[in-house]
Amino acid sequence: METAPISRHDFFKLVGTSVGVILLTNCSMGCSAKGGGDPTPIDRNVDFTLRLADQANENLRAKGGYVIANDIIVAQTKDGKFIAVSASCTHEGTQLTYKVADNQFYCPLHLSRFDSTGKVLMGPATQALVQFVTVADTAAGTVRIHS
Ligand code: FES
Repeated sequence: METAPISRHDFFKLVGTSVGVILLTNCSMGCSAKGGGDPTPIDRNVDFTLRLADQANENLRAKGGYVIANDIIVAQTKDGKFIAVSASCTHEGTQLTYKVADNQFYCPLHLSRFDSTGKVLMGPATQALVQFVTVADTAAGTVRIHS
């Protein structure tokens, strides 16, 4: 089978498009992998209780401390209040930390910041975190987190 000759213009047009597709594919795969993937949507029907006496929750006993349980970051503010929001950054899903001095949640990867209710203070994240209700029972030594 004979093929029709291809013009120089058509050849470069075809090759240029292919290279562009390859570069675009690599960039999008690389960018996504760097950030740890898309943020995982969180189940909004949440209800669990943390016992402060448990070893796993010892960081939560002190003001400024925080723990991550069930993909939710629970922190004790410097005023002794408990706050809870989804623990994955809404940009690319990196696990957040809590900065007590600013009372903010902070993403270590691209530096997004969220206030204590989960609202975006600084991007690149544009979507708020999911906020949860906390109920502290000092007599029982527990903190309940629910939707
Ligand atoms: S993953 Fe990019 S700002 Fe958090």
